[in-house]
Amino acid sequence: MAFDEKIFQSVITEFEATTEMLREVAANFRQDLKLGLANPDNSSLRMLKSYVGLPSGKETGEYLALDFGGTNVRVSRIKLNGNGDFEILKRVGEPLIVEGEYDYIGKNSTAEQMFDFLAKLIDESIDGDHETKFYLGHTFSFPSTQDDLNNARLIIWTKEFATPGVEGEVVNDLLTAALKRRGINNVEPVAVINDTVAVLLSAAYKNSETYIGSIYATGHNTCYLEPSIHDPKCFGQGGMILNLESGGFMKLTPNRFDMEFDRKSEKPGEQRNEKMVSGRYMGELLSMAVAELLDEKGKEYGFTSIDMSMMILDETPQLEKATEIIANRTGKTLEVGDVEKIKQLTSAIVIRSARLVTCSFVGIIWQRAGEGAIEKQHIAIDGSVYEKMPLVKENIAKALSELLGEDAAKVDTVLDNGGSGLGAAIAAAMAV
Ligand code: GLC
Repeated sequence: MAFDEKIFQSVITEFEATTEMLREVAANFRQDLKLGLANPDNSSLRMLKSYVGLPSGKETGEYLALDFGGTNVRVSRIKLNGNGDFEILKRVGEPLIVEGEYDYIGKNSTAEQMFDFLAKLIDESIDGDHETKFYLGHTFSFPSTQDDLNNARLIIWTKEFATPGVEGEVVNDLLTAALKRRGINNVEPVAVINDTVAVLLSAAYKNSETYIGSIYATGHNTCYLEPSIHDPKCFGQGGMILNLESGGFMKLTPNRFDMEFDRKSEKPGEQRNEKMVSGRYMGELLSMAVAELLDEKGKEYGFTSIDMSMMILDETPQLEKATEIIANRTGKTLEVGDVEKIKQLTSAIVIRSARLVTCSFVGIIWQRAGEGAIEKQHIAIDGSVYEKMPLVKENIAKALSELLGEDAAKVDTVLDNGGSGLGAAIAAAMAV
């Protein structure tokens, strides 16, 4: 049985994002930035102060970098040599959840367990050395309010994290207490930054002309350097980096799948933009759309963004790989015409994602330019979706040129791989 063509069309058009729609979203984003600069309460962007501007590139020394923001936690010992040069001396990492073994991010875990796990990894990264003094930069990739570079209070968990006892707390206090419990008194946290800020610091350390940092992975968020904010407590140069928590941007139009997914998510009503674009959610949207095509509405197949990437890359005439993935997830072996349709749908979800992400960048570029000319610049991005998902890079470039016209030639996106760790070390160096 082949899919009903009318139903298929009605599903796939839900994921269309025309140039007109993009123009509106980018303009709304800029408007929210303006409103947020005047008063964050009037904007769907959180505009969180980071108390750090750009590095000089001359930062040197050895630091610990804790990268905590996804299912994998990493701790690195990094030596900064200045001039954009650095060495990773040691790197350890482990997941926060291993199915059937342990889970530090679910509702039944505790803050103590979670932070003890971080302290254990930090201990490994210093080979159990409890004597030498280490300064630690902490990339904590969740919305947090800060009143200086070292204190960040978690506002709300995102990315489906649910550990009780952390929301509302100062995360480095929880970390310091866990270090003490483990007998580690020689590691001093000196900076907390969001992963977007880390990516921007890391990219700017190596390359000037970078003012926007973004994560496009499990979650999605963007930060930028705001030149008008000067604060005596802010380290670095050029103003202050603001973490926009752009995953929470609200002024875009969700389709019926977005709305239905939001209703059953961990935090309904939150992170509307993120739920439309990031790796954690694209597979969920595909599952819901496929369920409609298979007339099994409500059934959850658990497609992942890796499945999506493999289906898009399947160029064989019979679409064997895609057929197999769909069979594994849905229990149904479909005829090639239907597999082709699911492949088209998958591409449509990815393309919409890349186009919407570009709207945030353009909103920021417009806002930074004001009435003046758009500067020549790089947008630094890290994350598996940007790095590995087919169709993403070219669709960002295409959307940039649809929105910026000739000025698009001044803007490119660059992958800043591993920026979350390096950025934490740079922030620590800037702080001490
Ligand atoms: C989520 C978090 C945000 C982070 C992003 C990428 O959106 O709220 O702080 O930057 O994921 O990890």
